[in-house]
Amino acid sequence: MTDPARFVDEAVATLRAAVPGHAIVAASGGIDSTVAALLAERALGERSHAIFVDTGLLRAGEVEAVGEIFRSSHLSFELAAAADRFFASLEGVTDPEEKRRRIGAAFVRLFEEKAKRVGADHLVQGTIAPDWIESGGALRDTIKTHHNVGGIPADVRLTIVEPLRDLYKDEVRAVARYLGVPDSDRQPFPGPGLAVRVNGVVTPERVRRARVANAIVTEEVDRAVADGRMTRPWQYFAVLLPVRTVGVTGDNRVYGEAVSVRVVDSIDAMTATSTDVPRAVLNRISERVTRELAGEVVRVLYDVTDKPPATIEWE
Ligand code: XMP
Repeated sequence: MTDPARFVDEAVATLRAAVPGHAIVAASGGIDSTVAALLAERALGERSHAIFVDTGLLRAGEVEAVGEIFRSSHLSFELAAAADRFFASLEGVTDPEEKRRRIGAAFVRLFEEKAKRVGADHLVQGTIAPDWIESGGALRDTIKTHHNVGGIPADVRLTIVEPLRDLYKDEVRAVARYLGVPDSDRQPFPGPGLAVRVNGVVTPERVRRARVANAIVTEEVDRAVADGRMTRPWQYFAVLLPVRTVGVTGDNRVYGEAVSVRVVDSIDAMTATSTDVPRAVLNRISERVTRELAGEVVRVLYDVTDKPPATIEWE
């Protein structure tokens, strides 16, 4: 990418040429899709329809936070409440790739319904280069089918437009800063949401546990960063594992679940190193997770694996 201003001009021109009518824009509040939505709005004006889906798989406070990001970026959007259909589509599914396919399909079916209502033929998404490279786009094995790439069903009735598909994360961040998207250095969050941070079956109950644990990790790492006890890592979160394990509360044996804490440093998410988090921060996370999810989560682990050989997310 040359410079952000030039990229924006070119992307707007390309979008205008590609979309003669109306377009639905898949807007998750993440940096990639927020940039894509702003480009679409510049290019198409009222013919651009950004939709933010509450999948029921979002982080604590995310609906409010995303609304705020869109409002301060001056992006108009519609909120679609769709938790029931996402949980229904994931029922009994444990395979990570199948989860992504089901979620991708649920998004697309919802966008098709909205498209029908406004007379749109196109779907704009914020897919970036690592999404399709890791989804097997460039002579590689599929590492993860990003839900916005391989998760799109073959019979999709909308023409997909991806203005950011040649950019890497640091380049998208530069464009975001140029467009005035607030907090452009926010940590990334996977499109399939907490479904890929709940290993094993995805139920509202297990997602709630993952949501609480994720919020605790975020709060405690943010606090340590604010106090100067560590520098801000690239990404930090919790994963609910598919194991049952024995714990003890007072005099009672509890057969609960386990959470793994993942904190990594990275430049572009293609490689990453496990962060050396101060032990006191990990202890505090463990103490809070087992207390705030008492009787549900009884064990907290720290993941020391780099990428490669592991990936950043567990699924
Ligand atoms: P991995 O786990 O492949 O993650 O090392 C690399 C980066 O991508 C994010 N990620 C996803 N983002 N859809 C997304 O939009 C996905 O399916 C997905 N899987 C992983 C991950 O959080 C990390 O920043």
